[in-house]
Amino acid sequence: MSDDFLAKRLFQRKTDNAFRKLRDLNHLVDFSSNDYLGFARSTVLRDAIRDAERSLDRPCDKRSNGSTGSRLISGNLALCEQVEAEVAQFHRAEAGLLFNSGYDANLGLLAAVPQRGDTVIYDELVHASIRDGMRLGFARAYAFRHNDLSHLEERLRRSSGERFVIVESVYSMNGDTPALQELVETCRRYEAKLIIDEAHATGVIGETGAGLVNECALEDSVFARIHTFGKGLGVHGAVVLGSNALREYLINFARSFIYTTALPPHSLLSIRCAYRHLRRSMETVRQLHQRIHFFLTNVHADTRRRLLPSHSAIQSVTIPGNNASRRVAESLQTAGYDIRPILSPTVPAGEERIRICLHAFNRLDEIKGLAERLHHELVNC
Ligand SMILES: Cc1ncc(COP(=O)(O)O)c(C=O)c1O
Repeated sequence: MSDDFLAKRLFQRKTDNAFRKLRDLNHLVDFSSNDYLGFARSTVLRDAIRDAERSLDRPCDKRSNGSTGSRLISGNLALCEQVEAEVAQFHRAEAGLLFNSGYDANLGLLAAVPQRGDTVIYDELVHASIRDGMRLGFARAYAFRHNDLSHLEERLRRSSGERFVIVESVYSMNGDTPALQELVETCRRYEAKLIIDEAHATGVIGETGAGLVNECALEDSVFARIHTFGKGLGVHGAVVLGSNALREYLINFARSFIYTTALPPHSLLSIRCAYRHLRRSMETVRQLHQRIHFFLTNVHADTRRRLLPSHSAIQSVTIPGNNASRRVAESLQTAGYDIRPILSPTVPAGEERIRICLHAFNRLDEIKGLAERLHHELVNC
């Protein structure tokens, strides 16, 4: 069977120097994963999950390997509702609904909640899962310039129907944060419902790692929050937080919730254990913040000029052009650092970059070494 039609597009990707490949660089120093707190590699958390699994061997928990179906049919384990309630309570939300991933959460929420005649206004840098969700829905959707509240207001002025504003608390490619208080006030003026994706803030923002909304105590001003567990929490899955009505609505209308097998007990226990581990990891959260500060104070002035403004664990250094970004990333990899280039079309052409993810477990000498090597590469690029 001919697959030339695939080869043609792949060839174009190669010509554009934007071809993607799966690679295993796990032997290098990790400056690329989302495991900000080191939970994915924590033996303490791993043992806690194993212990919790052993406790499942009671006769009432017959389904210890898989959930056996959609939550609406056979997959609604009691454990699932308990974990949901625990997560909602941790983030001071009325209710929460688990999804199999952050991608599924955004897809389900954004395709189902805004309806025909409604308006969705989103920051131009929101994640692909939010864009895909909006594409599946029937509401009109308009982007506003990144973090530009006057442009958002302009869009809101012209909007109709139920209005939704969608932002992230830490932008995955830039690492920056919106001015949440001002955003909330703008939304209030136009009676718009604010949805905030906290994927990269979970475990990172705030003294308890609970996220930006909790940090600013704005829980009651936000319509929905998305927290994912595969980044700072080191496990897998996601939750949509909001009102009881929102939870019921999603159970009825979110297709990525309804038409999929629910998370297995292992995942549910991992989520529970990761949250319990987070409660005991305030020192690790502090250590991450120290590492971020250390990086920012140790980068060379020339590098700083290329850094996108960010106080989060994501630090992006712009190196325009796919070739140039790729070359710098490869040299850093050769020097032992796992750094990935972010190429166009993932970011707009001219805004290519390398993305540095800092972790609580990165040693100071590793961060210093990276900063020095980066300076050397940029001078020569
Ligand atoms: C902002 C944002 N939202 C959602 C997701 C998707 O989450 P998950 O990896 O759990 O599917 C990501 C993943 O990269 C993300 O960066």
